[in-house]
Amino acid sequence: MSETVLLVGGGGREHAIARALSDSSADLYACAGNRNPGIAAIAEGFETLDTENPTAVVSYAEDVGATLAVVGPEGPLAAGVADALDDAGIYAFGPEADEARIETDKAFQRRFMRQHDVPGCPDFETFDDMEAACEYIDDYDGDLAVKPAGLTGGKGVRVTGDQITKEEAKEYLQDADYERVVLEERLVGEEFTVQAFVANGDLRVTPAVQDHKRAYEGDEGPNTGGMGSYSDAGLALPFMTDEDYHDAVSVLEATVEALDGYKGVLYGQFMLTTEGVKVVEFNARFGDPEAMNTLPVLNTDFLDVLTRAREGDSLPELSFSPKATVCKYAVPEGYPENPKAGAKVEVDEESAGDAILFYASVDDREDGIYTTTSRAFAVVGVADSISEAETIAEDALAVAGEDGLDVRHDIGKSDLVQRRIDHMAELRGE
Ligand code: AMP
Ligand code: GLY
Repeated sequence: MSETVLLVGGGGREHAIARALSDSSADLYACAGNRNPGIAAIAEGFETLDTENPTAVVSYAEDVGATLAVVGPEGPLAAGVADALDDAGIYAFGPEADEARIETDKAFQRRFMRQHDVPGCPDFETFDDMEAACEYIDDYDGDLAVKPAGLTGGKGVRVTGDQITKEEAKEYLQDADYERVVLEERLVGEEFTVQAFVANGDLRVTPAVQDHKRAYEGDEGPNTGGMGSYSDAGLALPFMTDEDYHDAVSVLEATVEALDGYKGVLYGQFMLTTEGVKVVEFNARFGDPEAMNTLPVLNTDFLDVLTRAREGDSLPELSFSPKATVCKYAVPEGYPENPKAGAKVEVDEESAGDAILFYASVDDREDGIYTTTSRAFAVVGVADSISEAETIAEDALAVAGEDGLDVRHDIGKSDLVQRRIDHMAELRGE
């Protein structure tokens, strides 16, 4: 039977999913709030709609005769798009809203870890009353991460002793007026991501990736959705051991077991600390940018994963090219605080050379492609080593030029990777 897959979402991550599916026999359709020119070029049809409106998504899925769906971003998952597709008889690879709470409700996420003894849970408390939260900050011996319980696009967390003082943390809580926050011990170490395909009780993991959340080079500036990321030719990253990687996988396994019936991608954001691997957060989807590192090196047919998930079968073992990857986002100048839209994007899939070009939030006009106020496009180099992959990504960025764009050129460069290794060695007292 031929399959018709509906892809929900229009970012760089979804362009990577579309590209992965373009190698398969599926007929691909896509819908998103923005018209992503990269996805539109691959898909047989592309509809601009509100992806957080389950009725609109189901209606388009039915129009195109979708037999499967992949839900990329967290917003639609939180809005119940997977539930609505499942109810309409269209298997959604993505958790229903209740299970997506592992990402969409950080208070639930921490309580869940505590209740099920999932390893790697930091010391935490949750608060509905901001006065009580401020008192906790005063009384707590040590630095804390202040995390709004709901979705903030990766931009709501503040860490004392890192970005802000405890006094500023209290002001932040009073000014922002969140309904619920999590306060948890500050984890110190190096962060990494491990993503897994999950269905029918099976879990299939992918190589570790390191994202860069801070807006500016040298890990300075405000948090962003992620400025770029790298992965190595093996499963682990240069600053960690294979054992650290497997500890992270054990956390994902324990989580999937406790979740009971989860389907879609489970993303673990980990901190490698001197006390081992700790969980920064879970996401209920691929990472953006991390999907752009992982999917280009996946040799297994993505469609096979999807159909087996739907049929209740065991998931296929995954195979990856033993290649390193470096992904760099080009974002509008001033991102994330004062982004200026409207710069022309001067690179296309052909001129990107050996790099893979993924579009994110861009405006596809008659006379060309322009930036919006969100991350615009990413280039990914795939090679034998991180530094070769980095050069490939930089060559593509040189074609794109810098007009109206900001890029973290340091991502994937030997200096920065070495700093990560030195940081872990220093923490371990080596
Ligand atoms: P999140 O939205 O949970 O991904 O958090 C955004 C960023 O805040 C993470 O990538 C970390 O860099 C940082 N962060 C979150 N929780 C902690 C923590 N407990 N300790 C230190 N940093 C944290
Ligand atoms: N790169 C972090 C995220 O997708 O949430």
